Amino acid sequence: MQTAGTSLKQRAIGYLVGQARRPRGLVGWANGWMFALRPSNRRRNLWAVSLLDVRPTDRVLEIGFGPGIAIAAFAGRATRGEVFGIDHSRAMVRHAARRNAAAVRAGRVHLAQASVERLPGFGDPLDAVLAVNSAGFWPDPVERLRELRRLLRPAGRIALVSQPRCPGATSDTTARAARELQDMLTQAGFTDIQVETLDLDPPAACVLATSPAS
Ligand SMILES: C[S@@+](CC[C@H](N)C(=O)[O-])C[C@H]1O[C@@H](n2cnc3c(N)ncnc32)[C@H](O)[C@@H]1O
Repeated sequence: MQTAGTSLKQRAIGYLVGQARRPRGLVGWANGWMFALRPSNRRRNLWAVSLLDVRPTDRVLEIGFGPGIAIAAFAGRATRGEVFGIDHSRAMVRHAARRNAAAVRAGRVHLAQASVERLPGFGDPLDAVLAVNSAGFWPDPVERLRELRRLLRPAGRIALVSQPRCPGATSDTTARAARELQDMLTQAGFTDIQVETLDLDPPAACVLATSPAS
């Protein structure tokens, strides 16, 4: 039987998941600070960028950049390339634009409020794509990944990171999330799939894959 207490708890969890899916309003703005300051969030973002092995001339895209931690790390690596980011939350675009203001002014970082299901154009093919704790929110993620594969150059790289934030998440939850990401990437036509794990609580998994060369 559902008690008033459990229904309230479910509603609170639903609200928090909705805020993670698309942070908005004052709570969304506060969430942006939490995403940016939480040490495990920072570590998983910097780790994911390091795994993509970005070169100075690379053109990279992040989907669902939140407060823009990985965007800043990309900008520090792709010093002669370009960094693109989209996030459908206006609050997150404002956070990330403030964090990366100098690189945005210099025309090296381009941030847009857009959703992955309506991708804007990025000009020439991309070298790498990243999404950290975002792909789980996308509608029809396999179709989204097919579209992203078409934006990558042959042998371009993608990294999808998951650190489950549901109550009680363990290393098993992370392993399950990694398997789901692997399946989605395979169905979307990516190859050379590789899984790396970062020892956080719970662990973060990064699933790396390549767009086929032809
Ligand atoms: C849990 S937050 C993670 C933020 C950041 N990547 C990090 O690790 O701190 C998920 C982010 O994905 C964005 N997002 C979710 N679904 C999206 C979609 N369909 N298109 C674009 N952005 C999306 C949200 O607005 C939010 O900023």
